[in-house]
Amino acid sequence: MEISPQEFRDVQVLVRSLCGLVLSDDKSYLVRTRLEPVVRARGFQRFGDYLGCVQQVDAVLLRDELVEALTTGETSFNRDAHLYDAFRKVLLPELGESLRQRRESGFVHPTARLWSAGCSTGQEPYSLVMAVFDYIGGNPALQLRADQFPILATDVSARSLVTARAGRYPRRDLERGLTPDQLRRFFEPDPDNAHAVARRELRNLIEFRRLNLMDSLPGLGPFEIILCRNVLIYFDPATRQRLCERFHDLLSPRGLLILGSAESLFGLDLPFVSETRGGTVVFRRQERRSRP
Ligand SMILES: C[S@@+](CC[C@H](N)C(=O)[O-])C[C@H]1O[C@@H](n2cnc3c(N)ncnc32)[C@H](O)[C@@H]1O
Repeated sequence: MEISPQEFRDVQVLVRSLCGLVLSDDKSYLVRTRLEPVVRARGFQRFGDYLGCVQQVDAVLLRDELVEALTTGETSFNRDAHLYDAFRKVLLPELGESLRQRRESGFVHPTARLWSAGCSTGQEPYSLVMAVFDYIGGNPALQLRADQFPILATDVSARSLVTARAGRYPRRDLERGLTPDQLRRFFEPDPDNAHAVARRELRNLIEFRRLNLMDSLPGLGPFEIILCRNVLIYFDPATRQRLCERFHDLLSPRGLLILGSAESLFGLDLPFVSETRGGTVVFRRQERRSRP
């Protein structure tokens, strides 16, 4: 099935407005190979007819399919293992100490909320929650509970979220990303033996929610830490700037933004300072300077 230069440009504009994804001019082949099965499954013989329908006001499902087909959900457990070490050794202990102080000053059940923004099929929030269990289990004297670190995990892809909520993964993916100890402690074998499922106590700590980061994100915060990893790379600088301004609004006063290891806030004008915590670069929220 051919896609004309004009049809490709229409897809570029559409997908950018739907989910912020910037498709460079050399991606025509990728668009064709990823969209063709979707177009055919919907019974269209030509891209142009499909695109005409996708752009109609009530074609919400078709637009969701288009976004699913063109975004990249690549992820893995313990992706950039040093990040989760930093959580165990530095970031969670810091949050734990502030929870302890708040409890001592009279809060009954203080919490430190974490957000995995662009969580794909869930490996990132499950890796986080395993770090929470390790931290709490290793420090019983702190009298902290895992539910004091609730995790919101969101993605634009409804299909990815089905996998994430089920917490059910092929064994080969689990064995590649997890240590044998994590696999044994945090997952139980599925009857088919080719998969394993995250234990209920892990799943209970994560709220999975469908959310498009291009939307206004009202009432989500405040969070102590926002992870938005390997998502910004697909956006243009103006979109990154806008989104990180919203993250700034949703973080607690000294909260942290954590990006993918190849990402930074370079070139953006934002009140964050970079710090290295436990060998990992994080971006700490600063107050906005008041304009003269
Ligand atoms: C490459 S994956 C990264 C997954 C995980 N954060 C990691 O680093 O392993 C990028 C994810 O961002 C999601 N995404 C892309 N655009 C989005 C948007 N506008 N709103 C929400 N999620 C989006 C995709 O659906 C995909 O699951």
